[in-house]
Amino acid sequence: MCGIVGYVGEAHAKEKIIDGLKKLEYRGYDSAGIALPVDGKIAIRKHVGEIKNLEKIILDPEFDSPIGIGHTRWATHGAPSDINSHPHGNEDNSIAIVHNGIIENYQEIKEWLAKDYGVKFKSETDSEVIAHLIGIFYDGDLLEAVNKAVAEMRGAYAVCAIAAAEPDKIVAVRKDAPLVAGIGKGFNFIASDIPALLKYVREVYLIENNETIVITADNITIYDENGKTVKRDVFHVTWDADAAEKEGYEHFMLKEIHEQPKAVYETLVRRINDDGSINLDGISMTKEDIEGYNKIYIVACGTAYHAGLVGKLVIEKMAKVPVEVDVASEFRYRDPFVDENTLFIAISQSGETLDTLAALREAKRKGARVLSVVNVVGSSVSRESDDVFYTWAGPEIAVASTKAYTTQLICMYLIGLYMGRTKGTIETEYYNKVLDQLKELPDKVDGLLKSEDKIAALAKKYHRREQVFFIGRGIDCGVSYEGSLKLKEISYINSFAIAAGELKHGTIALMEEESLVFALATQDFLYEKMVSNVEEIKARGARVIGVAKDGRTEIEKVADEVIYIPDCIDEVAPVVAVIPLQIFAYYVAKERGCNIDKPKNLAKSVTVE
Ligand code: M6R
Repeated sequence: MCGIVGYVGEAHAKEKIIDGLKKLEYRGYDSAGIALPVDGKIAIRKHVGEIKNLEKIILDPEFDSPIGIGHTRWATHGAPSDINSHPHGNEDNSIAIVHNGIIENYQEIKEWLAKDYGVKFKSETDSEVIAHLIGIFYDGDLLEAVNKAVAEMRGAYAVCAIAAAEPDKIVAVRKDAPLVAGIGKGFNFIASDIPALLKYVREVYLIENNETIVITADNITIYDENGKTVKRDVFHVTWDADAAEKEGYEHFMLKEIHEQPKAVYETLVRRINDDGSINLDGISMTKEDIEGYNKIYIVACGTAYHAGLVGKLVIEKMAKVPVEVDVASEFRYRDPFVDENTLFIAISQSGETLDTLAALREAKRKGARVLSVVNVVGSSVSRESDDVFYTWAGPEIAVASTKAYTTQLICMYLIGLYMGRTKGTIETEYYNKVLDQLKELPDKVDGLLKSEDKIAALAKKYHRREQVFFIGRGIDCGVSYEGSLKLKEISYINSFAIAAGELKHGTIALMEEESLVFALATQDFLYEKMVSNVEEIKARGARVIGVAKDGRTEIEKVADEVIYIPDCIDEVAPVVAVIPLQIFAYYVAKERGCNIDKPKNLAKSVTVE
């Protein structure tokens, strides 16, 4: 995720900015840069790759100033490259900006600036338009120009700007992206995150949405959206830098579980237009292509494969085309039936999983069109695909995947809806219903996270069980696999997932009093069958935790405990149903004293066979 650091003080801003950027490295980034006002102009230095690459190109004493802004970029629009890195300048570099977030209407602004002002853009980013907008509105007052620019922008952003003609201040603004001001003596900071400042300051102002802030060496002034100055209480940071990186959460996994409402929102907002159509910007699949596919393969590993299991049911239902799901390590060696009428969908958080990459190459070799669903922009899978559908979950640091999974699910719905609409295989009413339900998911996930304590209590009660089963039918079956993987990978409990209807064909022999079973019963049309399965299990003495939608209380009669998820249509239930399973796995692992973020024997990215 991108990071911002700005400094105004007495000297050597670049050193303070580099210190701050290094403190944000843990968030993941692909390039870094700094802009400083030097001799009446703004000098910008930026470099793809690690911060040490940037350090090498800013050593010369001429590149120095008491004020500057810096950035670490996690690519969204445009691949990682020197040009796409921040800061961005306007045409004569009299203005420079750094930006976190997304400018939703950047294409419109770009066209307008090119047509009316003849602006020539250097990068592929959405952010560059901000520098040009400010430049066009600039008339000797940076604050006023930033306010005018912001009035043209839609989206989520934290922006910091400097002007060559006002080399004593930084103007910053936030909307739905974090920003904090660090209070020093004779110097001040602005940053996207508290860890960036802790080496130099412990007192900060937390900037609120739609506020603009002007920072000089001696002053920090905050303005509300009406331009009135705001008095803000000083917030004293008591955490150490390590805790601050996790934003107060004990582990990255918990932090990432809690980031899911935002991650799901980000995935949706980038793909749904105001008129309800799905925007496939950057994806070149045509109507003819979509109508020509007679088969889809979804291929992935681990959690991403589990997202594919849900994706199969969703895409088949919406686009009326057969979908096969396979684990990449099997697909690549089994000479699958793939030809030029096959769409191959690779799902991967990292985009570097070797088996997924090899499967993709095999599918391509056989003539398939490759669409990948990837989180890391510019990764190998994304580079080798014909089209990429990014998940926009932001960096996932914990080995156990959480927000990558829920955003992969969102991509499956969007792909299914788009294909269904294009082929005419879904009614408008159904399309709109699913779309409305998707838009409600960030709030529903957020609401569910509020029952964390209840699930933590269940984890405390059951954390000593050594055998846990996850069962479900239909789409719940895929979620069961994911719940089971989450639990086993971080708590080392022997857990097992199976289609509920398969239990009687063997696995029920293992049920005994010490067994714990999660019964996922979120599918209305399969609900009664799940209740019957739970009865069969109870007859063998096992403990059962049911997961059902609000209002479906029948299961209370048979299960020992029930976790309710917000009511929703069956199709989108996986996005909410998986949340309690992630939280349960997390707290069980915590109770058992496991290394949650880095479980034994596992790596975040599996780049070997
Ligand atoms: O980066 P990828 O999505 O390709 O990784 C695939 C699996 O290794 C990954 O999903 C793994 O199963 C998770 N870390 C489990 O939480």
